[in-house]
Amino acid sequence: MMEVKVTITRFDASRDVAPYPQSFSLEVRESQTVLDVLLDLAAEHDPSLAFRRACRSGICGACGVTLNGVPKLACETLVRDVVRDGEIEIGPLPHFGVLKDLVVDMDGFLEALRGVVPWLVLDPSYGGNMSQEGLLKVVKAGECILCGVCQADGSAEEGDPSAQLNPAAAVKAFRYAFDPRDILGPERAKLALDLGLLDRPLDPKGKLGCPKQIDFAHQIIPGLRQAVER
Ligand code: SF4
Ligand code: FES
Repeated sequence: MMEVKVTITRFDASRDVAPYPQSFSLEVRESQTVLDVLLDLAAEHDPSLAFRRACRSGICGACGVTLNGVPKLACETLVRDVVRDGEIEIGPLPHFGVLKDLVVDMDGFLEALRGVVPWLVLDPSYGGNMSQEGLLKVVKAGECILCGVCQADGSAEEGDPSAQLNPAAAVKAFRYAFDPRDILGPERAKLALDLGLLDRPLDPKGKLGCPKQIDFAHQIIPGLRQAVER
């Protein structure tokens, strides 16, 4: 066990004029996840602390927060990987409006997905086969859990118009643009282009902090651009 100072950015949109930090000291295990720490905090120190979680296993996408300023999933991050000099700072995802504490407004993020028609539109002539190569092309994009970490990634500055773009919408466009069952196919890439989803500057690592390691710089954006040019 180790003593850790956890500082959380608190804010209640119905009451506060500005966010403020609140610190707690508590005993934690290095092998605990940050989500476990938040659950302990809420249970033992402050039941009013607001944060989202559901699956606790990196599947539902609910627990995105910043840890020492870096967007991550709380349920997939161990204390030992983020504690610095006995402290951890936890805040809401940037580029989203804050509703309460660590709970952000995801409506705009999810609404932006509609523009790329994020569901399969079955081609009636589809013969029922998918090559292994075709499957490998879309399987990674299919892992997106809509957590918003890519949108929040620090490579886009607050106030930068490109921060309004939605990388997850580009992932959805890619996922169906290359699915042989889908009748819209490359049309989805044109939708992504028209929505400006291919314009976002990309960091050299190209993954925008994605917990599923989806590669925007080397797969999603170039793939959609090639589909547009076809
Ligand atoms: S692309 Fe990655 S970071 Fe973005 S919403 Fe999907 S899983 Fe989260
Ligand atoms: S609680 Fe579901 S992804 Fe973290």
